[in-house]
Amino acid sequence: MGLVGFETRKAFTKRLTRRANRLGIQNVELIRGDARKLLPVLFEPKSISAVHVQFPDPWWKKRHQRRRLIDGYFVTLVHNLLAPGGLVFLRTDVLDYGRTMMETFEDGTHRFENVAGQGSFIDDDGLGVPSNRERRYLAAGTPVYRLVYKSSNF
Ligand SMILES: C[S@@+](CC[C@H](N)C(=O)[O-])C[C@H]1O[C@@H](n2cnc3c(N)ncnc32)[C@H](O)[C@@H]1O
Repeated sequence: MGLVGFETRKAFTKRLTRRANRLGIQNVELIRGDARKLLPVLFEPKSISAVHVQFPDPWWKKRHQRRRLIDGYFVTLVHNLLAPGGLVFLRTDVLDYGRTMMETFEDGTHRFENVAGQGSFIDDDGLGVPSNRERRYLAAGTPVYRLVYKSSNF
């Protein structure tokens, strides 16, 4: 399985690339740039088996929230790129953002099935791999909200 990761910040992309090289991980490609712009350029429709978004920037202030990664445009983008039965894994520590993600995926525009049932977060998304950030949250008792959506993109 090949993994492609996107990160807008140069220093973070370099750091991640160094870490992947150090760990000998060969099935990952890290690309510096905006996932929203690059995904439709780099991938054919219905060619991706899963999309993972972990702890996207929350943009707390109301007037900044239009900068959030996950919105109607992103859901349509992902819907077009996922193969039938493809999965979307989302994690956030920000309940309000988690609810917005849920509303956006479940607003009926596209056929996404919430694996936990409509309107519900999932306790265990089955991935079992916390990032360093998530390890910190879990150690501090900060709740993490997880969602898994399955595309019925036939
Ligand atoms: C809050 S951090 C979380 C990083 C990591 N997923 C984790 O769990 O620790 C969000 C990261 O997403 C990057 N980012 C924000 N918008 C992006 C976009 N449109 N495309 C690619 N990366 C983006 C930011 O630069 C930042 O490093």
